[in-house]
Amino acid sequence: MTIQEVGVVGCGIMGAGIAQICAAHGYRVRVTEEDPEQLEKGLSRIRRRLSRDVERRRLSRERLDRILSRLHGASSMEEFTNSDLVIEAVIEDLPVKKDLFEKLGQICKADSILASNTSSLSLSEMAASSGRPEQVIGIHFFNPPTVLPLVEVISSESTSQETIDSAMSFCDSIDRLTVRVKDSPGFIVNRLLVPFIFDSIQMLDGGIATAEDIDQACKVGLNHALGPLATADLVGLDTMIHISEAMFEEYGEPRFKAPTMLRRLVSLGHLGRKSGRGFFEYN
Ligand SMILES: NC(=O)c1ccc[n+]([C@@H]2O[C@H](COP(=O)([O-])OP(=O)(O)OC[C@H]3O[C@@H](n4cnc5c(N)ncnc54)[C@H](O)[C@@H]3O)[C@@H](O)[C@H]2O)c1
Repeated sequence: MTIQEVGVVGCGIMGAGIAQICAAHGYRVRVTEEDPEQLEKGLSRIRRRLSRDVERRRLSRERLDRILSRLHGASSMEEFTNSDLVIEAVIEDLPVKKDLFEKLGQICKADSILASNTSSLSLSEMAASSGRPEQVIGIHFFNPPTVLPLVEVISSESTSQETIDSAMSFCDSIDRLTVRVKDSPGFIVNRLLVPFIFDSIQMLDGGIATAEDIDQACKVGLNHALGPLATADLVGLDTMIHISEAMFEEYGEPRFKAPTMLRRLVSLGHLGRKSGRGFFEYN
């Protein structure tokens, strides 16, 4: 299957980044949102990032114009009828995603591939809702998607080899480095990362060390680019809870259960970088 047009659902942290990468690699992109204000915010974020690249001489003005000419905001998924690949990046909520796959299955042309950027939820359940389970796959980008090259390519029992091959070629075409993993909550990275972050939060809540020192220890002692608490802030503390709920439900292990301190911060509206405050403060 030749992919020419990519539809992206959701224009938050991940959706905006994914739309930008696809447009930068020559694809025609349509991106839609539940919330029109959020769509405009996401598109402005893309324009700002690209303009910064022009200022830093990493991108020519002509190339910026070409990228933006390929990127279109869509008022609804009804505009995805000609998309060859649709990648959803809406909130981490299974009923919302299942409903979305059911609609995409009805709207999109028969041979289009439907992909989820889920961090932890059951791809098989989304596949079943779509009415075309053999064409459903996980294409899981990492945050920030415009910077981190890794993509986990996730197949369910029903995903066809043709869909896997198309998804792998697509990831090559956008310069991503892929790993293959079977459908299981958290896949590779989050299954390892979530308990690590939760232990750090418990250490902080127990007064064992400050947030700065916990992160500094991991950066310097483990050579991590970012400490676990700053990573949680980057992911979004609300998203961390959503990711862990699916993993706790599946594995039943306490190490996947969201710590009280994390829940407390979220109920206070401290969601990490996106709200300006999480474990750390951001301007
Ligand atoms: N944040 C991360 O670090 C990260 C990394 C990898 C994958 N993910 C996954 O990517 C997905 C999106 O996460 P995010 O961090 O971008 O979240 P986000 O909160 O920044 O953005 C989600 C967006 O989806 C929109 N939305 C919700 N329901 C919708 C619908 N029915 N139709 C259209 N838009 C809808 C919301 O308005 C919001 O703008 C989640 O599945 C998450 O698990 C997140």
